[in-house]
Amino acid sequence: MFKTTKEVLDAAAVYFVNTASESISTQGRFTVALSGGSSPKGLFELLASEYHSKVEWNKVFFFFGDERYVPADHPDSNALMAKKALFDPLHIVPQQIFTVNTSLEPAEAAKAYKQVIEEHFAPGSVAFDLILLGLGDDAHTASLFPHTSVVNATDAGVKEIFVEDKKVFRITFTAPLINQARHIAFLVFGSSKADAVHHVLQGEKDINQYPAQLIEPTNGDVTWFMDESAAAHLDQ
Ligand code: 6PG
Repeated sequence: MFKTTKEVLDAAAVYFVNTASESISTQGRFTVALSGGSSPKGLFELLASEYHSKVEWNKVFFFFGDERYVPADHPDSNALMAKKALFDPLHIVPQQIFTVNTSLEPAEAAKAYKQVIEEHFAPGSVAFDLILLGLGDDAHTASLFPHTSVVNATDAGVKEIFVEDKKVFRITFTAPLINQARHIAFLVFGSSKADAVHHVLQGEKDINQYPAQLIEPTNGDVTWFMDESAAAHLDQ
């Protein structure tokens, strides 16, 4: 828990750098799934500036834990945000970036992305080195929204989900796929998240109401990077 956003971002950047170095030294590469929304933008910009010399970026492979079902050049696209804040400043080549193909139908896009992921990890099983996650005010993470069918998915896969209240499709990793990761990091800012943080970390178990409670890695670890206002409702 940190006082300022900058302190949170610096800690998350150091964590990213260390996780990347450890993976590259043991496996020769680092495979990370990025989160979307507004919270990670500052981290991406920091990695591409103050920390750009600390990672062998040509050995990093980028995926997305979820994506909005919009064209790749749409302002809501998570891939577009990462392109502007991270990939372009670091001159990451297209062979290292794996985006959701939103020109396909939602179900086809989800299926195709799962295949791309499996091909990347073949012949081994899918286990991301790091998955970055955010947290919605409603305790959703990735696009695992409360009271949606994908919350109860038991397979380690990628699913399309129609989010009623937003009237949009999203393409998302399922919780079992996320939980296969070696490292998972939540990046959470601001008082609007305080209730959700409390419910996810200290509340009654209710995955349909608080889907981020699903994130419990099988063989990995979870780290929360949050500021004081996001952690304000945690019992000390
Ligand atoms: C997305 C995300 C989503 C996000 C939360 C928090 O595509 O929107 O992956 O899960 O992390 O909604 O969003 P903010 O960081 O904007 O608060």
